[in-house]
Amino acid sequence: MTAEYLLRRPRRLRRSSLLRDLVGETSVEARHLVQPHFVLPSASGREPIASMPGIERLGVDELVKQVGADLELGLRSVLLFGLAAPGEKSPRGEASAHADGAVQRGVAALKREFGGELVVMTDVCLCAYTDHGHCGVLEAGAVLNDESLPLLADMAVSHAAAGADVVAPSDMMDGRVRALRDALDAGGFSDTALMSYSVKYASAYYGPFRDAADSAPGHGDRQSYQMDLRNAREAEREARLDEAEGADVLMVKPALAYLDVIRRVREASDLPLAAYNVSGEFSAVKAAAERGWLDEPRVVRENLLAMRRAGADILITYHGREALQGGWL
Ligand code: PBG
Ligand code: ZN
Repeated sequence: MTAEYLLRRPRRLRRSSLLRDLVGETSVEARHLVQPHFVLPSASGREPIASMPGIERLGVDELVKQVGADLELGLRSVLLFGLAAPGEKSPRGEASAHADGAVQRGVAALKREFGGELVVMTDVCLCAYTDHGHCGVLEAGAVLNDESLPLLADMAVSHAAAGADVVAPSDMMDGRVRALRDALDAGGFSDTALMSYSVKYASAYYGPFRDAADSAPGHGDRQSYQMDLRNAREAEREARLDEAEGADVLMVKPALAYLDVIRRVREASDLPLAAYNVSGEFSAVKAAAERGWLDEPRVVRENLLAMRRAGADILITYHGREALQGGWL
């Protein structure tokens, strides 16, 4: 007689990789991945980013080459961030909506070259274009909400006009999803989708990104608009508001320190959900791997699986290219 407690043996299904594959609950596939890019306001150029090994700022021609190579790997979605041209930053960041800006030119070039083979998403935020580095209009030390909305809407419309498939506001102003949706529809872009950075925390994990995009605030921090790290209930509220305002896709950012939040938002809304595996999460893995302290391929797979297991559909990650190249998934 088998002892009662040994009748159930979960190890039976772990005996071989075939059995494990048969019952594996979650997977990360190329189709889930979005590769972010930093676009220079020039045709050529490739600039390494010291704090993000393997990631470079790319001129528009270089961007097209890189995305072409990535498409061969099966990486078919990109998220573009723009850099301002020298002398172009201003108090209100109007250059963010210029038709000849880095992102606008990058989107047009990618769509010309790859058309329907590629999903082009763009980040919508003023911080790389304001001279103070805040994500909205700054007045007497305060970031003004409603005054920032028309600027963000202009930026989103300029991306849509260039051919973006998805615009993604990351500024965290209240009501911006509705403001962007209205402006897009009024501009004849009712088919352009909107992925909202709905649940974006005032995280220290954005450090390397701010070097990459030259978008760090000159004074102060972003705690008056990005979410308080202590809050999870509030995440559901932000998600519900964005859904009501017309978002097509929701996002939680960062990802790894917020897996509980991904799960909560997953359960609070049935919209597709993205997780943003941010720059600091990427760089921490890179730094440890460079020292030989972590096995990078296995850690990256583990991290990406964690985001999927928590409930994310879409994974925005700087690891995308190398993960597919190396067969890490
Ligand atoms: C711009 C923006 C940031 C990130 C995405 N969009 C920086 C910030 O809010 O300070 C962070 C992405 C990353 O760290 O990889 N608002
Ligand atoms: Zn910003």
